[in-house]
Amino acid sequence: MFLEKTGEQQLRGLLQGAFDAVYVLTAIRDASGAIVDFRYTDLNAHAARRMRRPREEILGRTVTELTPRQEVQTFIDGCGEAILKNQPWEEETAVTLSDGSKIWVRRHAVAVGETVALTSRDVTAEKESAEALRRSHEDLERRVVDRTQQLTSQILQRQRAEDRFTRLFESGLLGISISDTTGKTFEINDAFARMLGFTRDELLSGEIDGLALSPPEYAQESLANRETLKTKGVVMPREREFFRKDGSRAPVLMGVAMLGSTEVLVCASDLTESKRAKVELAKVEEQLRQSQKMEAVGSLAGGVAHDFNNLLSIILSYGAMIESSLAEGDPLRGDVQEILEAGHRAADLTRQLLAFSRKQILKPRVVALNGLVGGVEKMLRRLIGENIEFTVLATHDLGLVKVDPGQVEQVLMNLAINSRDAMPNGGKLTIETNKVMLGAEYATEHPEVTPGLHAMIAVSDTGVGMDAATRARVFEPFFTTKGPGKGTGLGLSTVFGIVKQSGGHIWVYSEPGAGTTFKVYFPCVDGFPTEAEPAGLTTATRGTETILLVEDEERVRTLAVKVLKRHGYHVLEAQSGGDALLICEQHGARIDLLLTDVVMPRMTGRQLADRLRGLRPEMKVLYMSGYTDNSIVHHGVLDSGINFLEKPLTVDSLTRKVRDVLDRK
Ligand SMILES: Nc1ncnc2c1ncn2[C@@H]1O[C@H](COP(=O)(O)OP(=O)(O)OP(=O)(O)O)[C@@H](O)[C@H]1O
Ligand SMILES: [Mg+2]
Repeated sequence: MFLEKTGEQQLRGLLQGAFDAVYVLTAIRDASGAIVDFRYTDLNAHAARRMRRPREEILGRTVTELTPRQEVQTFIDGCGEAILKNQPWEEETAVTLSDGSKIWVRRHAVAVGETVALTSRDVTAEKESAEALRRSHEDLERRVVDRTQQLTSQILQRQRAEDRFTRLFESGLLGISISDTTGKTFEINDAFARMLGFTRDELLSGEIDGLALSPPEYAQESLANRETLKTKGVVMPREREFFRKDGSRAPVLMGVAMLGSTEVLVCASDLTESKRAKVELAKVEEQLRQSQKMEAVGSLAGGVAHDFNNLLSIILSYGAMIESSLAEGDPLRGDVQEILEAGHRAADLTRQLLAFSRKQILKPRVVALNGLVGGVEKMLRRLIGENIEFTVLATHDLGLVKVDPGQVEQVLMNLAINSRDAMPNGGKLTIETNKVMLGAEYATEHPEVTPGLHAMIAVSDTGVGMDAATRARVFEPFFTTKGPGKGTGLGLSTVFGIVKQSGGHIWVYSEPGAGTTFKVYFPCVDGFPTEAEPAGLTTATRGTETILLVEDEERVRTLAVKVLKRHGYHVLEAQSGGDALLICEQHGARIDLLLTDVVMPRMTGRQLADRLRGLRPEMKVLYMSGYTDNSIVHHGVLDSGINFLEKPLTVDSLTRKVRDVLDRK
């Protein structure tokens, strides 16, 4: 008993002194025996304090009397479970005290029969520090994650940048090198190496002196660039050159930038192609300008030649008439002969001008070009003299071309004479023939060329050659470097005109001191060689037939009338096509020949002839002209079956040709 008493007292003492709130509760059962509530049978001071009530007020009351049921249901259930299962029950939960403050408690219930001893420890501090720890843990964790993500993305970014750089580096778009500030290269791509004509390995070997690749005139600039690089960190792209491995120069656009403080990045883009294209364009432009100039000079020359031929017709014909009227031994005879000779020389010049302006009338035939070259070889040999070694290298099968053989001979002669003049102390003259295919690519570079097979004649000499300025002007009429009286400057312009009019092309290749080559190309044609027409001019000059003469130039007309009448003809005179039609209507008798100028205002000679054909089918037609006109000539080629008398007229040419046409069947 004493012991019991003592035990109980001790227990109470312990209870009161306990740090936790301790309650002793007795179960309350309902009618069915289910535990529905508990009654406080004892509690320590700590517990009373927790409940903010005096101990006495609590003892004997039920739990739900003092606390709303919804707040204590788990607790009632837990304690009930401790009784029923006879096992300790435990929970940790937040409770709201009567003053509204919240604390965390850990409850522990042990049952003895219907009595439960419940300890409730305030674990708020513990809980909070755990919470703080957890939070700081979480925070740390989050920070670690964030940092990791940051680092990963930085790494990825760098990797991506590196990938991009690598792709740029290997793309070949730009020459890229990385070196240190002393100029030692440790990275260089193939594109850069290629620009310089080296391999990467060669450039990275350290055996190539970078300075030696920079032409001396860039030394100053390189120094300045180094300064700029130091202060600004970049040198803006600039055009410059490097020496290639083979010593040639590589033009590049180059920029430099510092990578950090120790690495220097150089980017260079190859300008060779664009420079080449520019040069090519300039060349084509120059060609175009040249051909436009030639065209302009040509039409000028053609116009002049037309007028000259009329004037020369008068000079030559009247001169000849005066000459023939003078007695043998007349002192004036010599003077007249001088006039006539000068007139003939002027006629030659005019013919050359016409040739240049491509207004000359060609009589083209299908011929083998080799035969032509062979034909003039002997004459050329005589022309160039002894001290020049002359070789003809002819390709066996050169093919057929359609040209005026006389004109091509003229071309070869002019070229050979120029070569002779370029080699006053002797040398070599070579004429080479070859069959070449001028392809589409060639044609884009030389816009006037129609692609296809061409027969080529190259005339080469080992003479003084030409500089670019001379080369650019050789085909211009009256351009000569020969002294006064030595050259007229019409040789090559004639050549040019003939070649162009024949559908061909001519190029000159020459350097001062290195000789000259002229290459002439004629398009090849199919078919068979055609024979030359027999010259057929009679020596007879007189007749009594009736001729209708149509010429708008009064002086030329008067002249022709005079010449024809003197040679026995009956002449009807008209100054225009309209005039001629009228005369035809009025003239009852037969008219044997229509002799008409070609180029006349309003109605051309051709149109006139066509209109008269119906009226007078028996009448023959002879055209005369100083130059070609599309009505009887197409592209400089006389329509077949056409009788044509070239101006300037001379007494001889006029009377013979008239007789010739009248006598034709
Ligand atoms: N084979 C050549 N070598 C060096 N220069 C040449 C050669 N052929 C032509 N030339 C230059 O071209 C110029 C013009 O030549 P072109 O034949 O048109 O006239 P030319 O020979 O001076 O006079 P012409 O032919 O009327 O007697 C010449 O004066 C000369 O300067
Ligand atoms: Mg010449």
